[in-house]
Amino acid sequence: MQSGRSCLAILLAAGEGTRMKSGRPKVLHEVGGRSLLAHALASLSEAGADAVVVVTSPDRPEVAREAQALLPNAQIAIQAERRGTAHAALAAREALAVGYDDVILAFADTPLLRPETFGALRAALSGGKAVVALGFEARDPSGYGRLVTRDGELEAIVEHKDATPEQREIRLCNAGMMALDGKQALSLLDAIGNDNAQSEFYLTDAVAVARSRGLATGALTAPESEVQGINDRIQLASAEAEFQRRKRLAVMAEGATLTAPETVFFSHDTLIGRDVVIEPHVVFGPGVSVADGAVIHAFSHLEGAEIGPGASVGPYGRLRPGARLAAKARVGNFVEVKAAEIGAGAKINHLTYIGDATVGANANIGAGTITCNYDGFFKYRTMIGAGAFVGSNSSLVAPVTIGDGAFIGSGSVITEDVAPDSLAVGRGRQVTKEGWAHAFREASQARKAAAKKP
Ligand code: UD1
Ligand code: MG
Repeated sequence: MQSGRSCLAILLAAGEGTRMKSGRPKVLHEVGGRSLLAHALASLSEAGADAVVVVTSPDRPEVAREAQALLPNAQIAIQAERRGTAHAALAAREALAVGYDDVILAFADTPLLRPETFGALRAALSGGKAVVALGFEARDPSGYGRLVTRDGELEAIVEHKDATPEQREIRLCNAGMMALDGKQALSLLDAIGNDNAQSEFYLTDAVAVARSRGLATGALTAPESEVQGINDRIQLASAEAEFQRRKRLAVMAEGATLTAPETVFFSHDTLIGRDVVIEPHVVFGPGVSVADGAVIHAFSHLEGAEIGPGASVGPYGRLRPGARLAAKARVGNFVEVKAAEIGAGAKINHLTYIGDATVGANANIGAGTITCNYDGFFKYRTMIGAGAFVGSNSSLVAPVTIGDGAFIGSGSVITEDVAPDSLAVGRGRQVTKEGWAHAFREASQARKAAAKKP
């Protein structure tokens, strides 16, 4: 993003996260189907960070593992004791000593920061500032550090607990993330002391230290919705809401119609083409792509699925991982599809389970068809040829192959392969006894009347 200047990003993730009341580290909780940590790492990478150090605590090894799985060249620094944000940043001392041009400090529990905002912080550094903080106008400023400014200059950041009553009136708060001139970063951080209400080493004191050395400092602002940090489940839900709001706008901006956007839920990686229509109450889990012109009808749930152009899903469709619909395929109400390829123009319109299967182009799968893919130990595949017609309420016991153009009689249990263009019927033959019902009724009524007599 910032050409010509090297950049180190330090992501602080060693906090305790007690208020989540969770067995899982806070930064591994998810927004839009991916961890808070993943959001922050993606944003820093997009902002052009050449090196990323994730600062974690020794008691949360899962965080380091996840960071390296997401970004294999991420460096891990351990903060042995929690002694404040500046102390945490100094856990990345080795990387700081390399002397990158820009240093970005970010919090791993702030998932909605846009790469553009990190870019703006970096631009302020290249404009000659030594320290640039990110501020926001807080609805409720209590608890946050306050940005103390004079004539547009950032003079200091004062933590709420250390602030005077007048300073507590300031609504411009510290979002937490900061950019430091890389050539001075280590020396600035080393000069920070812990003479404050919490006896912690505050990163925010980098501002006062820089000013005392005659260096230029500045602040940028971002909307509160972008900088909101997550400390508890309520804030997690609020970040999720903001994530969904952004994603809905982005999907619509790219040419999809959402009839009731506020009822549709996306994953961070959902891909939606042009002229796609998404009806109300649709949920996209991770790994879904929907090609141009497809329609996702109301109350459908999709994950790990690929929807071809002009295809149609639902209402009440359920697509599970590995479901792949080719062009103009139709999957209707109360149909579940898993690990199955549905050919172009094939129709599976009602009350059906298709799992571990291939359905050929233009095949027609009748209501109530079940692929019996599992014997309690192993899974088996069902192959249904192009143009095949499976009558309603059929069970296809896998492994089994139904040839191109074959017919399956309704209510069949198919256990053997069916050759192309043949008819297979696997059910008891119908027996009809004429007049039986009439005779049965007469006899039964007579018995009932006799039983009632005293
Ligand atoms: C911090 C800011 C405050 C700002 C607020 C915004 C400081 C001193 N204060 O306060 O001005 O308004 O964020 O939300 O920076 N962390 C560590 N090791 C530590 C302490 C913290 O890694 O020893 C990490 C946490 O995991 C978290 C981040 O640093 O990602 C912020 O820590 P937190 O304790 O939440 O800081 P606040 O008190 O909220
Ligand atoms: Mg905090």
